[in-house]
Amino acid sequence: MRVFKLERYFARYEFQAKYLLSSSDCESLSQAELLALAGDDTRRMWEELILGYTESQGHPLLREEIAKLYENTSAEDILVAVPEEGIFLAMNSFPGKNGQFLHPFPAYQSLSEIAYAAGYEPLAWPLRVEGGRWSLDLEQLRRQVSPRMRLLVLNFPHNPTGYLPSAAELQEIVTIAREHNLFIFSDEMYRYLEHHPEERLPAICDIYENGVSLGGLSKSFALPGLRIGWLATRHKTLFESLAQLKDYTTICGSAPSEILAIIGLQAKEILLERNRSIVRNNLQLAREFFQSRQQDFQWLEPQGSSIAFPRLLRKIPVGTFCDAVVRQENLMILPGDVYNFPGNHFRIGLGRKSFPEALARLGAFLERI
Ligand SMILES: Cc1ncc(COP(=O)(O)O)c(C=O)c1O
Repeated sequence: MRVFKLERYFARYEFQAKYLLSSSDCESLSQAELLALAGDDTRRMWEELILGYTESQGHPLLREEIAKLYENTSAEDILVAVPEEGIFLAMNSFPGKNGQFLHPFPAYQSLSEIAYAAGYEPLAWPLRVEGGRWSLDLEQLRRQVSPRMRLLVLNFPHNPTGYLPSAAELQEIVTIAREHNLFIFSDEMYRYLEHHPEERLPAICDIYENGVSLGGLSKSFALPGLRIGWLATRHKTLFESLAQLKDYTTICGSAPSEILAIIGLQAKEILLERNRSIVRNNLQLAREFFQSRQQDFQWLEPQGSSIAFPRLLRKIPVGTFCDAVVRQENLMILPGDVYNFPGNHFRIGLGRKSFPEALARLGAFLERI
C-alpha cells in the first residue's frame, strides 16, 4: 500500500507543533467530563468492569445505543470496530474485486487506497468549485458507471471540503447504484455536524439494502481516543464477511472504551450540542478571517463537518507555505498536497477551542511575509 500521506504529516507534526489549525476532530472530552455524564447503571458498569475479552460484534448495549442513530437498522446489523479498521474491513469484504470503484476526489486516502490495494480499479469523481462552493456532478457519475463498476464510495459531510449533497441528490445516487447493482460504502464520520441541521442526510444503511455506513465517535462526538466506530449494514452475507475478517484485525473491542462509548452515546445530545457550538463559533471566525483577506485566500463555505478546504491565492506552492508556517510560527496547517489534489488548497479544522489562537498565528505570519 502506498504511504498514507495525511497520516504521515500528522505523525510528524501533531505532537510537535504548538498550534494546530487543521485537526479534523472536535475538542476531545476528558475522561472526567465524560464520566460525569454517566447514569447510575453505566457508572456501575464502569466501576465493576472486568478487563477481559469482549464480544466480537461489540457490547450488546453499545450496539443498541448505536442502532438508535438509525431508522431501519438494528443492533444485530452493527459491527463495532475502530473507524479506520472499519474502512479496511469493508474494502476487503466487498465481492467483485476485479471491477472498478468510484470515489470522491479529493478523498481521505484510505477511502481509495485500501480498495485499490484490494484489487479494484479506482475511478475519481472530482469535486469542483462552483459559485464559491464545492459541488459534485451527478452527470459524471452517470457517465462513469459501467458494467465493470462494483462499488461506490461516498463520504458526506466530506473530508476535506465539508461538502454535502441534497437529500434528493443522495436518493438519485442510490437509484443509480441500485440500477447497476453497486455496493455503496458511505463514510459518515462527520454526520451530525451539518451546519444547517435540516440538511442532514439519511444514513446509507437505512436507505439502501446494499449499503454500508461507517460511523464513529472520533469526530462529531469528540471521543477519538476511545477508538470506537462501527459498520452498519442490513446486507446479511456482507455482514458475515465483515465479522469474519475482524477476527484477523482486532478480534474484539477494548473493554473500557466500550463502556465509555455507551456513556457518550447515552449523552449524545449534550456532546453534539457542545461540539456544534464550538464549530459554529469557529466557522464564523474563519469566514471573517478569510473574507477579510480575499487577496490571499478564496474561502469555500463548507456545508457540514468540522473542516474546510480554502484555497491559497498567493503565488507560492501551498506545501512551501505550510512548511514556512510550521517552522516560523510553530503552527501546523495541512496542505492539499497530502490529498494529491491540485489548486493550492489547505485544510483547516474548526472543532478545537484553540482555533482563535491558531488563526491569530496565521494572521501574524501573513502580516510579516
Ligand atoms: C473521513 C474519515 N473517515 C475515517 C477516519 C478514521 O477515523 P479514526 O482516525 O478515528 O480511525 C477519518 C479520520 O480522520 C476521517 O476523516
